[in-house]
Amino acid sequence: MNMAITASGLRKSYGDKAVLDGIDLSIGAGTIFSLLGPNGAGKTTTVNVLTTLLKADGGTAHVAGHDLATAPQAVRAAIGVTGQFAAVDELLTGEENLRMMADLHRLKGGERKRVVSELLERFDLAESAKKRSSTYSGGMRRKLDLAMTLVTRPQIVFLDEPTTGLDPRSRRTMWEIVRELTSGGVTIFLTTQYLDEADQLADRIAVLDQGRIVAEGTPDDLKRQVPGSHIRLRFTTIGELDSAARALPGSTRDDEALTLRVPDSGGTKSLRLLLDRLAESAIEAEEVSVHTPDLDDVFLSLTGHATTEATAS
Ligand SMILES: Nc1ncnc2c1ncn2[C@@H]1O[C@H](COP(=O)(O)OP(=O)(O)OP(=O)(O)O)[C@@H](O)[C@H]1O
Ligand SMILES: [Mg+2]
Repeated sequence: MNMAITASGLRKSYGDKAVLDGIDLSIGAGTIFSLLGPNGAGKTTTVNVLTTLLKADGGTAHVAGHDLATAPQAVRAAIGVTGQFAAVDELLTGEENLRMMADLHRLKGGERKRVVSELLERFDLAESAKKRSSTYSGGMRRKLDLAMTLVTRPQIVFLDEPTTGLDPRSRRTMWEIVRELTSGGVTIFLTTQYLDEADQLADRIAVLDQGRIVAEGTPDDLKRQVPGSHIRLRFTTIGELDSAARALPGSTRDDEALTLRVPDSGGTKSLRLLLDRLAESAIEAEEVSVHTPDLDDVFLSLTGHATTEATAS
């Protein structure tokens, strides 16, 4: 497979704090790669290094076949970056923002016009093209931001937390756009704090924890390493909790919260079996909830600690 990005032993420190502590990457062309990690894990730092915005202290990397250290210009020409914080100029309209981008990249007359109107159409922004982008919703602003990145038709697109803060519908729209991009052969490097987002989009996921990749693989590989979903039962007395724990072997109890956590194979059948067991022993639960694994579970199981934000200094 053709590699869009390879990196070996990338390091970056601020003072004596290692923010990237030896990152290895190997990302196939035309695939979606997701770097998954909590606040402060080093996601933006990785993006900044790979996009030539920041110099690494050590290690090597090739992006689009070019050496990051010796050919940063060639790297820049091949990539597009949509940062964590939108680069949209709020005083300009959507169309003006795109035109400004086209001018920045010296697109001329006919091509400039064509590219701008194509992108407005494609991102469903044509109707709002003449409105100031300060009046756009968060989802529209993200779309415009990404459209601006695509003005140069990059082969590799970096998206730093493209859906953080968006409502569920706008997130889905963004996911569709990302999928569409790869069907046109573009490679996507995407960072996220959401396991479900990485799961939905990525061909491969790397889990980043305090500057180190602690797990890497397909979404299925990773999910196999983390505990599956579970059912949580809450009781009103410790006596009920005792009886339930006896009736449901393999469950984990929390005496303080009066809850019992029962592994769940998913589906209605396992839930019914569980409820039947409780009924047979005449136990009533105060509350029943089904819990699917999230980034916190992934972290707990891969690193043995929760997703705590790394403190600077
Ligand atoms: N210029 C800087 N000077 C000092 N420390 C920095 C600098 N930039 C980043 N850091 C530290 O490096 C660590 C990683 O930061 P980074 O922004 O890469 O994390 P992130 O994974 O993108 O987090 P978030 O999800 O919050 O965006 C953090 O502890 C941060 O405080
Ligand atoms: Mg970040």
